[in-house]
Amino acid sequence: MSVRSLAYIRLQATDLDAWRRFGETVLGTQTVASDDPDVLLLRIDSRPWRFRIEKGAADKVLAVGLEYPDAAQFEAGIAGLRAAGVTVTPGSAAETRLRHVQAFACCTDPSGNPLELCWGNTVAGTPFVSPLGVPGFVTGEMGMGHAVMPAMAYEATRAFYKELLGFGDSDEMRVHFPGGPEQGLGMCFMHASGPRHHTVAIGELPSPSGLIHVMLEVPSLDDVGLALDRALAAGVHISATLGRHTNDRMVSFYMRSPGGFDIEYGCGGTQYPDWSVVTPTITIKEDLWGHKWDFGQ
Ligand SMILES: [Fe+2]
Repeated sequence: MSVRSLAYIRLQATDLDAWRRFGETVLGTQTVASDDPDVLLLRIDSRPWRFRIEKGAADKVLAVGLEYPDAAQFEAGIAGLRAAGVTVTPGSAAETRLRHVQAFACCTDPSGNPLELCWGNTVAGTPFVSPLGVPGFVTGEMGMGHAVMPAMAYEATRAFYKELLGFGDSDEMRVHFPGGPEQGLGMCFMHASGPRHHTVAIGELPSPSGLIHVMLEVPSLDDVGLALDRALAAGVHISATLGRHTNDRMVSFYMRSPGGFDIEYGCGGTQYPDWSVVTPTITIKEDLWGHKWDFGQ
């Protein structure tokens, strides 16, 4: 009864055109034709969409979609949440069709992060075509990437993901940011049942948008470098320079999305096909090299 991967991200945005430009000129996502001018759908793979962005009064996350591998594990997960006293609201038939899943239900974690738990894989039926020639994003059974969420109720939130959603510890660290507290901030990186090093991470810091960052993985270092060039050319704020993380060995950079949170754009993340033989780590230094932070405005 364990979540397998990150399914999708739903956002509210004040400026859909900014997201469309960001997707089409920097990320390399494919904009899906839509009859609704107040909704922007972005593809990165065979799924009908991975980002659903609705026009609204504020830039904020509406839901982080977490996917179970099948109906039985989904139902067991929902039952476990309810048994633990968590309020779980089933999605309506119309909402389910909108998400192209078989079933989903909504809840929040102890820090208030909005989650949608789902199962069921729908494919678009047409190939993913990046307008920028990005050859593809590394997804499949590893999901669309990872999401890092704020968690001021740090320990309770960590327990929620581990005990109720089936996540396991991959790594923990105290992160020291310029101007941050001397003892650093807790960051906990947790793996789902899929092979990605972490599908969810929580950080002991607030975030007005509701997300700290979302990671998208591309096949090669050239794909990362080309994206960095595009981000610089587009005047996108670079939140962290190119670097390699100690824990998942990903080479990546971070850039500020129109939603106010960062997109980590990387390659080469270590995969773990068998979590039963992996011992969680505590990392003292978060990067092997690079990732010099500039939080900007
Ligand atoms: Fe990350």
